[in-house]
Amino acid sequence: MRKRLVIGNWKMHGCLVENEKLLDSIVAGLDGLPANQFAVCVPYPYLPSVQNTLKNTNVSWGAQNVSQYEKGAYTGEVSVSMLNDFGCTYVIVGHSERRALYGEDNDIVAEKYMAAQRAGLIPILCVGETLEQRDEEITEQIIQEQLMAVINKAGVGSLSKAVIAYEPVWAIGTGKTATPEQAQEVHVFIRSSVGMQGNNIAKELTILYGGSVKANNASELFAMPDIDGGLIGGASLAASDFVAICNALSN
Ligand code: PGA
Repeated sequence: MRKRLVIGNWKMHGCLVENEKLLDSIVAGLDGLPANQFAVCVPYPYLPSVQNTLKNTNVSWGAQNVSQYEKGAYTGEVSVSMLNDFGCTYVIVGHSERRALYGEDNDIVAEKYMAAQRAGLIPILCVGETLEQRDEEITEQIIQEQLMAVINKAGVGSLSKAVIAYEPVWAIGTGKTATPEQAQEVHVFIRSSVGMQGNNIAKELTILYGGSVKANNASELFAMPDIDGGLIGGASLAASDFVAICNALSN
């Protein structure tokens, strides 16, 4: 079902004491807002304490990555069932930092996406082009390849239990946000691409925008007809910013 969502991606930030303060302020700031619209994706070691703090609140939680394998000799990896042990709702797959820094290609991302769904987790599938690719005018081709790698393996129907995040790589952590019109254009492309495979799935697809979303630009992004919310990096680490972004979604 198409949802409105704001999800924080803490990346490799935080410590027990700071997390507690951050989450307490977020929970207080979001009190009274609807359930199932807000979440934070945190580093693995903090999942137990985050679960403890957020259970019985309107903020959900998840992880930023997961192994494609169920279990076995994969030193340093974390499985979907481990994420389920800590009540995760979401897991980010295919973030551009994983793709660029850890060699996760479209095939691996599709495997992770399927592993997440088999375990009942909602994958947040990240797609997006680099600056070079945008300049070469191959944005749509790149995104089509990223989407089709998943659709070919998992089937278009799987997208009814997933979230897509369009994150132009050039906008991540750079302070250079896509304009609402630029983002809307790609969101329409994603929806129509999926629509070619299954029209009803496309209409119901939740597509978030990510890349330098801040308190002062969230409203205009979220006002675009095909932008269903945001995946928030830097601004999810300051409670007042994150709460303002969440409020921009609800207004
Ligand atoms: P940013 O990160 O908001 O800091 O640009 C977004 C992301 O990487 O998900």
